[in-house]
Amino acid sequence: MRDRQILITGGTGGLGRSVTTAVLNRGGFPTVTYRNEREVEAVLKGVAAEHRSRLRLVAVDVTDEAAVAAVIDEMPRLDAAIHLVGGFAMGPTAEFSFADWQREIMLNLNTAFLVCKHSLRKMLPQNEGRIVTIGSRGAEQPSGQLAAYCAAKAGVVALTKAIADETRGTGVTANVVLPSVIDTPANRAAMGDAAATGWVSPESLAEVICFLASTAARDIRGAAVPVYGNT
Ligand SMILES: NC(=O)c1ccc[n+]([C@@H]2O[C@H](COP(=O)([O-])OP(=O)(O)OC[C@H]3O[C@@H](n4cnc5c(N)ncnc54)[C@H](OP(=O)(O)O)[C@@H]3O)[C@@H](O)[C@H]2O)c1
Repeated sequence: MRDRQILITGGTGGLGRSVTTAVLNRGGFPTVTYRNEREVEAVLKGVAAEHRSRLRLVAVDVTDEAAVAAVIDEMPRLDAAIHLVGGFAMGPTAEFSFADWQREIMLNLNTAFLVCKHSLRKMLPQNEGRIVTIGSRGAEQPSGQLAAYCAAKAGVVALTKAIADETRGTGVTANVVLPSVIDTPANRAAMGDAAATGWVSPESLAEVICFLASTAARDIRGAAVPVYGNT
């Protein structure tokens, strides 16, 4: 991870903060996309002063293809792309609006396509790169009230595995992690502290993601890694 140029989309979010910190602690150079200035402040509070100069924060809407292409083109090289942006919505399918369905596909699947596509444009000529996407346990074990989210995350798994197949024979790899429930402040606020038993900590998940994004994971391709904690 040392000296590697790492794109982290959603790197200021509940999970993203821990991934950004973990990349910095390992000596990497993260380019972190964000939307919300308040999240930037929260991230900066957690970054040690000696690491600050290696952190680049860029305001990017990752549903915008030109913006995604530009942020990747601006990077000197791209050793790993960690795509964490996603969105969550639930409700019975019979009452789920088409607009919400499209939003789930856009935030989870379409953004993954855009980030992977433009990462590959940069990584293939380098003959080196790691793509790490984020699915969900629900991609493999879909549950009621979550059809759109589960379908979108299953799409992310398929996209990642297809890229892993397409890049066989190159120095580029693609893998996806499948968390169950992450112990984020948002989940605690929604479900309460008592429900948090067995949830995966963001720090623990960040370890798995950093490994897949590192040179050490050069021989892992197309894995969908369950990270379910004790649930
Ligand atoms: N939390 C869980 O229990 C859980 C479980 C399984 C999988 N996951 C997946 O893990 C990932 C991270 O989850 P999380 O809990 O950390 O979510 P989060 O806190 O909502 O973080 C997502 C980040 O992505 C950003 N984002 C959203 N839309 C964007 C866009 N169009 N362009 C650029 N950035 C955008 C958000 O910014 P804003 O704050 O401005 O919206 C936020 O910083 C997601 O893909 C999620 O589906 C989460």
